[in-house]
Amino acid sequence: MTAPAAGPRVIVLTGASSGIGLATARELAARGHRLVLAARRTEQIAALARELDPTGVRVLAVPTDVTDDASRRALVAAATGHFGHIDVLVNNAGVTVEHGWWWDDADPLRVLRVNLEAPVELVRLVLPAMRARGSGHIVNIASVAGIVATNGLYSASKFGLRGFSLGLRRELLGTGVQVSIVSPGFVKSEMTASARLPMPGPEVVARAVADVLSRPQREVVVPAAYRALAWLDRHLPALSDTLVSRVVIRRRYGHDKKI
Ligand SMILES: NC(=O)c1ccc[n+]([C@@H]2O[C@H](COP(=O)([O-])OP(=O)(O)OC[C@H]3O[C@@H](n4cnc5c(N)ncnc54)[C@H](OP(=O)(O)O)[C@@H]3O)[C@@H](O)[C@H]2O)c1
Repeated sequence: MTAPAAGPRVIVLTGASSGIGLATARELAARGHRLVLAARRTEQIAALARELDPTGVRVLAVPTDVTDDASRRALVAAATGHFGHIDVLVNNAGVTVEHGWWWDDADPLRVLRVNLEAPVELVRLVLPAMRARGSGHIVNIASVAGIVATNGLYSASKFGLRGFSLGLRRELLGTGVQVSIVSPGFVKSEMTASARLPMPGPEVVARAVADVLSRPQREVVVPAAYRALAWLDRHLPALSDTLVSRVVIRRRYGHDKKI
């Protein structure tokens, strides 16, 4: 098996325009990596690319809608065209149904398209070259909501992404291509702007992503305190029901009323 590359890597990062993706871009650039920033908001990623590398050589911004096949292909082509190859794919772009219950939303399945289908399709695009080179790393940003169920559809997407990642990791054992999951608890971002919960900044997740590239792991839960919630959910599910419905579903999603 080829050892993972140690030095600067070429990293495609989706969802780089805000929150965890923005913080991760800054952390990875500070550690000397080459970046391809992807998101729909063109101005944000272009400004970030200029901030991180005014020369335009080490950081590239590629406007991308990860739910669109042509856009995904253009992203991979732009990254490969500029840097010659892709070492790392970080699937970070994600959405949830923010307002109201997901079943009242006009298009709740967009959560699955962004959070699950897009990572699978992007992996399909980058994997052949990684396998041919005998090296690469897929990092999927899941969630504690992919371990402890909260919002039904968001959890479906993140349980799905975790299952995909765990299985893919086993399928690729011995090929030199690593697969890691980073599962954040609540952190401050646009996604959690209305949550009434204490939260650290997204930098804690950014550091976890950067660290897992130097020391590949199956899954990192960050902040680590959320591992206690995962334990509780597994061993004391009735208590977890109360905690998750009272704290997470009400204070995170604002569902104060009984159904
Ligand atoms: N914040 C938390 O507490 C938390 C906890 C656990 C897991 N997560 C996960 O962490 C990841 C980042 O979330 P965040 O908290 O940083 O939220 P955020 O600030 O809302 O960022 C979401 C990112 O996803 C991008 N995105 C959404 N739809 C896209 C699409 N169709 N194509 C391309 N990019 C798209 C957005 O960019 P554009 O709008 O510019 O396209 C944005 O950059 C998500 O996967 C989320 O599920 C977050």
